[in-house]
Amino acid sequence: MTKKIAVLPGDGIGPEIVAQAVKVLDVLKADGLDIVMEEGAIGGAGYDAAGDPLPEATLKLARESDAVLLGAVGGPQYDKLDRPLRPERGLLRIRKELNLFANLRPALLYPELAEASSLKPEVVSGLDIMIVRELTGDVYFGQPRGIEVRATADGKTERVGFNTMIYAESEVRRVARVAFDIAMKRGKKLCSVEKANVLECSELWREVVLEVAKDYPEVELSHMYVDNAAMQLVKWPKQFDVIVTGNIFGDILSDQASMLSGSIGMLPSASLDEHNKGMYEPIHGSAPDIAGQDKANPLATILSVAMMLRYSFGDEANAQRVENAVKAVLAQGIRTVDIATAGCQIVSCSAMGDAVVAAMCG
Ligand code: IPM
Ligand code: MG
Repeated sequence: MTKKIAVLPGDGIGPEIVAQAVKVLDVLKADGLDIVMEEGAIGGAGYDAAGDPLPEATLKLARESDAVLLGAVGGPQYDKLDRPLRPERGLLRIRKELNLFANLRPALLYPELAEASSLKPEVVSGLDIMIVRELTGDVYFGQPRGIEVRATADGKTERVGFNTMIYAESEVRRVARVAFDIAMKRGKKLCSVEKANVLECSELWREVVLEVAKDYPEVELSHMYVDNAAMQLVKWPKQFDVIVTGNIFGDILSDQASMLSGSIGMLPSASLDEHNKGMYEPIHGSAPDIAGQDKANPLATILSVAMMLRYSFGDEANAQRVENAVKAVLAQGIRTVDIATAGCQIVSCSAMGDAVVAAMCG
């Protein structure tokens, strides 16, 4: 069965990094991977093309595809638009519309990049954490939300801004299952991160995770408050195997974890629904400051292709072919500028894509 991939480059460096990932897919296709690719506009590019950060045609394309490859969205030229028209809304909407509730964000340190981390090598060497972030609930989507004028106690008025942190037990249960399943395939350790000492929402989260844990007696489960988790991630990150957490805590912790590994330019992600249909994107943003200069790091996007092969297509062999090519390129000392170390060879975004392709075919 031919698999269809929706390719959504987006904004900023999105098009240049996605072009490198497409080169990798083209190699796999030439070698027999049965795929077709079709491009769509999203984010600011969607707004420019159709007045909507998630144009109807793009959503349709994504729905009828087996997987989505996304670059990045956002740029300063869109910051003044009404909130529903902003690029980020396109991203949030496609996650919600496709029901991509489980966001897998690995933080993996490549030994060649140990120097690029701001932490001591002994703290990060061998680091391999998987963060499972819930992606379609929490304050990101909870109602009510808004900014409105309210009366104050002294008879005046003032503006208030509000969002709602809310999780239904079914939402916690399904993401907890994904995290336990992943833990079973890794080190069998799962840390659930919340703020149950203060928030009812987190109290329920913990209760539900404990219920799900009964089906996974082999997994060693721990619970951590998010403030402590932020501290432990910097203090001794190797204590973690799999982390499961809500949308907003996961947003923050995954950026933090990404830096342990040296560069946010290295980290891929997968966002899955319950049938393993997924959207794959680098965890970094659209980096408008370097857009169009052919110097962005395409490796996170290329590694996102590996995750697509593994999680949506069940093609472990090709996933490893891509990951091994990335490792080989790093071992050759080839680097984009964000991960440059002494004595390395600094290359452009497109040259990095070519180097990965060469390593795949070598
Ligand atoms: C991420 C990003 C998004 C998020 C933004 C761009 C809406 O920070 O994917 O982590 O907050 O989820
Ligand atoms: Mg984020």
